Amino acid sequence: MGRMIAPHASGAPDHTDRPARTVRKAVVPAAGLGTRFLPATKATPKEMLPVVDKPAIQYVVEEAAAAGLDDVLMVTGRHKRAIEDHFDNAFELEQALTAKGDSVRLDAVRDPARLAGIHHIRQGEPLGLGHAVLCARRHVGDQPFAVLLGDDLIDPRETLLSRMLDVRDRHAGSVVALMEVPPGQVHLYGCAAVEPTGEKDVVRVTGLVEKPSLQDAPSRYTVIGRYVLEPAVFDTLERTRPGRGGEIQLTDALQELAAGGTVHGVVFDGLRYDTGDKADYLRTVVRLACDRDDLGPEFVAWLREFVAGLEGGMATKGGTAAKGRRLTA
Ligand code: UTP
Repeated sequence: MGRMIAPHASGAPDHTDRPARTVRKAVVPAAGLGTRFLPATKATPKEMLPVVDKPAIQYVVEEAAAAGLDDVLMVTGRHKRAIEDHFDNAFELEQALTAKGDSVRLDAVRDPARLAGIHHIRQGEPLGLGHAVLCARRHVGDQPFAVLLGDDLIDPRETLLSRMLDVRDRHAGSVVALMEVPPGQVHLYGCAAVEPTGEKDVVRVTGLVEKPSLQDAPSRYTVIGRYVLEPAVFDTLERTRPGRGGEIQLTDALQELAAGGTVHGVVFDGLRYDTGDKADYLRTVVRLACDRDDLGPEFVAWLREFVAGLEGGMATKGGTAAKGRRLTA
């Protein structure tokens, strides 16, 4: 966590060198209620909250496309129409920008719909992440597939998903992404019991527990929002009864697969952001804004001054640092 990586121009990854994959389909669950981010998420899906100038879920779809997945199924719900609109054409906007000759903004408007074949299905009721994945059964069919949580961002310069797809190609079964967290955070995640494989960043997952207490946690490796799943997970999910919080938990189904010895974990130590959490959302926006070639230099200069003001005790109401851009421009 926290290592340095080179800045990028606009945040948009380069897809010209996509690898051809045996796994082709990605499922993006985005039907949750987003209660941690109320009231912003009362009428706006949390996956549509802007991270600099793109909604969070666009980064997720870009990540899938960059890993060679050209078919993306969004699992949405009521009040999630904005997601469907964002990945569709916007005729009036495109016409207006064409008339103005504004090709840069025209591309920005068209890009989301061009990333992959985008499909949508509705989860009638938010009965849990496991249930959201089960909603994808008919679309996915009898093939392995990736799952990327719609509010969980992996930094655009990381290659975690490609690494997971490589591991799946070599070991079959399912692959989860794991991150080591401080002991005080294990109760927030699904936690894995692991055995080494001889490969530094790959472990065999022998068990999973959803949100354990520190005493019950089998390790500090927690499951983050990237999975490559074997289609057998659907039968397991059909049998999975509602667990913690009355929801059908993906972790419970994965626990059954792990007991059968078919789950591996890729240990990730790069940059990951949970945009469904307010504090992490703020960190994400600041970090990605600082890294942008077009915004970064001016924003970083302001940020330095702001932090200096905080340290000097001036960032209170009426203090210089708190007054924002007008004072420093
Ligand atoms: P979260 O655990 O973040 O739940 O879901 P949530 O309900 O959306 O958010 P909070 O905790 O109330 O703030 C992780 C991912 O699974 C999706 C969410 O949209 C998010 O991408 N999800 C969750 C579903 O698609 N359906 C569900 O029933 C639950």
